[in-house]
Amino acid sequence: MTTTIHSNTQPAWWKEAVVYQIYPASFLSTGSGSIPGWGDIRGVINKLDYLKHLGVDIVWLSPIFNSPQVDMGYDISDYKDIDPRYGSLEDVDDLIKGLKARGMRFMVDLVVNHTSDQHAWFLNSRSSKSAAKRDWYIWQPPKYDTEGKRKPPNNWSMILGEANSAWTWDEETQEYYLALFTPEQPDLNWRNPEVREAVHDVLRFWLDRGASGFRMDVINLISKVEGYPDAEVVDPSVPYQPGQKYFANGPHLHEYLQDINAKVLSHYDTITVGEMPFVHDETEIIKVVGATRKELNMIFIFDLVDIDNIPGSFRLTLHPWQPTEIRRIITKYQRLMLDKDGWNSIFIENHDNPRSVSRYCDDSDAFRALGAKLLCLMQTTLAGTLYVYQGEELGMRNLRPEVAPEQYKDIESINYWRKMNALHPDSPGDLKGARPVLQRKARDHARTPVQWSAEANAGFCAEGTEPWMMVNTDYHTVNAEAQRVYESEEDLSVLQFWQRGLASRKDHRDCFVYGGFEGVGEEGGSVFAYKRISRGAGGEAFVTVLNFSGGEVEWMVPERVRMEKWVTGTYGKKAPDLALEGTVKLRPWEGVLGMCAA
Ligand code: NOJ
Repeated sequence: MTTTIHSNTQPAWWKEAVVYQIYPASFLSTGSGSIPGWGDIRGVINKLDYLKHLGVDIVWLSPIFNSPQVDMGYDISDYKDIDPRYGSLEDVDDLIKGLKARGMRFMVDLVVNHTSDQHAWFLNSRSSKSAAKRDWYIWQPPKYDTEGKRKPPNNWSMILGEANSAWTWDEETQEYYLALFTPEQPDLNWRNPEVREAVHDVLRFWLDRGASGFRMDVINLISKVEGYPDAEVVDPSVPYQPGQKYFANGPHLHEYLQDINAKVLSHYDTITVGEMPFVHDETEIIKVVGATRKELNMIFIFDLVDIDNIPGSFRLTLHPWQPTEIRRIITKYQRLMLDKDGWNSIFIENHDNPRSVSRYCDDSDAFRALGAKLLCLMQTTLAGTLYVYQGEELGMRNLRPEVAPEQYKDIESINYWRKMNALHPDSPGDLKGARPVLQRKARDHARTPVQWSAEANAGFCAEGTEPWMMVNTDYHTVNAEAQRVYESEEDLSVLQFWQRGLASRKDHRDCFVYGGFEGVGEEGGSVFAYKRISRGAGGEAFVTVLNFSGGEVEWMVPERVRMEKWVTGTYGKKAPDLALEGTVKLRPWEGVLGMCAA
């Protein structure tokens, strides 16, 4: 892995951009939405200067559209109107204006693998077998077992729901419909050209209103294998099995994506990022993001955030992992994209994952800030478009383990806890490891309100108003205000470290954004080190060295790396005082950056 992969990538604004993901319910509540204690669009507008100052170029808002909120807006009932709890279309227009005035852009969360079961399309579809939109969703007749008992069309399991089967029975029309996530999120039938046109129309609506692009929710699930074959049995103790082999990257995916590109995206100047769970195959990935393919600019690949999943299972499982896997995964995709002219997205947090400092580092008071800076240094020095999730720039961490699972709000957590209670009534409290799974992996950890200050409700909503989701108990010390005014000769706050990292990434974009990549040093152990080399001749080169452990480690500067100087690190403001040759000692969770010969 030590060979250098040089870069031939063509520059583009969306490659250099820093995208900031906002989970609007938890960002900032000004009280302008219809429900007190919910974040709103005015809250986002209020923080545009904060985001600009941080170094953000694009704001991606998780769904704000009309929705029954079964899955926090990922169940949309009207793609062209705003849920009143967030505000109005006029608020979105103002947001777009505010962004443009600051040279920033707006990214829409496009959720079109499925709709809400309350969307007019589905209401029509389920009204009768001969309804105009019957074929807009995926309906199948039942199967019967040998005793004549009704069964779903296949054995696929549901991803988030309490029900076990991905198929939901409709009493009225005596057929099942497919809903991979929850029964309230029926999957659209993309084989129907009318559905594809309706989706194109949604894209145009938002682009014409001033959006600059889309994050496309589980976009690789839009084409399913015909005939809906049974999934292989991975857990013989349960009747339903993960069916991703048959619903992820199905036979028509590329055709549908190219169609979107030709008919809509190519007429605008856009950024697109597709969420693509369950896919590891390099050829398949490059088909979507290859520069000449005309599909999507980039995708979210899940390998890094699935690092602690039992392979082949869904999210709520725990699997031991080693820091070397971080190195292996990142190296694989840095090399792949440079080699095959694709493009990476760099992310380790979003609204579906626990806080990164709690997952990959040590979130105890002694190491939280150091871990957050280590992860910042890593991400700001890797090739790709960078995505920062709200609160990541503050080093926000998971809810404390004392929080009872009953206090979690997310549908996935609630259903999982219910299921585990039903399965293990003999082991209340722990439920055979279910509680630690939620403590480490629940989506709730990323959904607590952003901690703006040490004031009531962490400054997220007015005093006396109850936030929709509990504020993490550490907000007196972990908050934006404290980190913004942090003054020390010696050190930077996590927020200041992020500001500096994002600025430096832009100042050295030829290297950090566009440059080549080479893994350096010994593989194995807790150190992940790599060299980035500017595109083109005569440019700069940097080496990033990251200690993913809570112990002191020694790292040998490889002979082929000619270090010139150490420029920055996670322990304090000053340049690290380390040798340029031989062995360097890294402290717990320490990351350092040096310049070397190109
Ligand atoms: C992925 C989204 O990020 C997640 O929050 C949601 O539950 C599923 N897709 C279903 O839309």
